[in-house]
Amino acid sequence: MKNKNNFYFEESGKIDGLDLDVKLLNGKRKKEHLDISLNHDVNFKKITSGFENYSFIHQALPEIDLNEIDLSIDIFGKKLSLPLMISPLVGGIEETGEINKDLAKAATICGIAMGVGSQRAGLEDFEVKKSYMVRDIAPDILLFSNLGAVQLNYGFGLKECNKSIDMIGADGIILHLNSLQEAFQTEGNHNFKNLYLKIKDISRTLKKPLLIREVGFGISYDVAKKIISTGISGIDVGGAGGTSWIEIEKIRSKNEILRRVAESFSDWGIATAESLRMVKKAVDEKSIKKQENRICIIASGGIRTGVDAAKAIALGADMVGIALPILKSISVSIDQCVDYIKEIEAGLKIAMFGIGALKISELKNTKFLKKLN
Ligand SMILES: Cc1cc2nc3c(=O)[nH]c(=O)nc-3n(C[C@H](O)[C@H](O)[C@H](O)COP(=O)(O)O)c2cc1C
Repeated sequence: MKNKNNFYFEESGKIDGLDLDVKLLNGKRKKEHLDISLNHDVNFKKITSGFENYSFIHQALPEIDLNEIDLSIDIFGKKLSLPLMISPLVGGIEETGEINKDLAKAATICGIAMGVGSQRAGLEDFEVKKSYMVRDIAPDILLFSNLGAVQLNYGFGLKECNKSIDMIGADGIILHLNSLQEAFQTEGNHNFKNLYLKIKDISRTLKKPLLIREVGFGISYDVAKKIISTGISGIDVGGAGGTSWIEIEKIRSKNEILRRVAESFSDWGIATAESLRMVKKAVDEKSIKKQENRICIIASGGIRTGVDAAKAIALGADMVGIALPILKSISVSIDQCVDYIKEIEAGLKIAMFGIGALKISELKNTKFLKKLN
């Protein structure tokens, strides 16, 4: 049945009036997302991550030894060799099980964190649970579960969040906010009402840390303030400037009108650097007011180099997340993925050398990052 008020929206699980098996639909969508991301240009066309608007003031006399620079951080009870996580990517179809396992191997080798892709399929279909499980090969990594926050309006609640964590032995769960992505799917979940209160309820009772993230359109100051007040443990800004879900859905869509509408949204989103500034302001205000522990900030969306990572940390991030370049490299080999992560590591380290920062805490508090113009 079509929604009378919307000429193109279809009920979830139905395409062109045909009842399709929801599992098949989810699997087909995931496969299409993966294929499109790997084989098309899905970058934002008009927005950049915004890190190019910042530059470090070079310190010719750093007074430190490059080899003594320590990139490690302690976060959510785990020690990382560098402040990097593999952003949530895949799971839910059989072929992605191997990708998650390979990503977990790379994460173990490099000492970084990892999130799995949305576990909705794993909760609905016992057979695909395995595609998210990586603890057998990566027992110690900082590992995050993932679900769409909108699922809280479609039958999921605290129980499903805890089940997702248990399913993979995760250290916490990240709920993603993806309103625009869903809006550009005719079969998407379009009801984003009352999620704030539902997130608040879960945050109070969940057994592990709860984090909230955007998937590439950024978190504004007002939204950050609101979600911080729910008592969550972390925010991933998921800003614009890297992979664009509107580009992905535009390629996927068979709906001519939606494709044209997508064109007009090519400048929609808060650039990652800008969103990071807004989220940091909201986090700092809360920590000062309540004298509470500062919640964790993750910067993702278009982070492509170690210098981007260094700028993100200097702007207030505790850790950065990278998705598509890591997916592309792991689809070649684990070695290629490890090389890419090492490239980020080397860039971050040399950037710190360039401003004389010996530790991540010093980079965070540096006075040597300036906004251009
Ligand atoms: C194929 C693919 C699948 C993704 N699946 C998820 C997901 O299930 N959950 C989620 O929170 N983000 C998901 N993302 C979004 C990424 O985690 C990330 O926010 C986005 O790609 C922007 O980061 P990037 O510019 O480094 O690619 C996915 C991204 C890609 C490319």
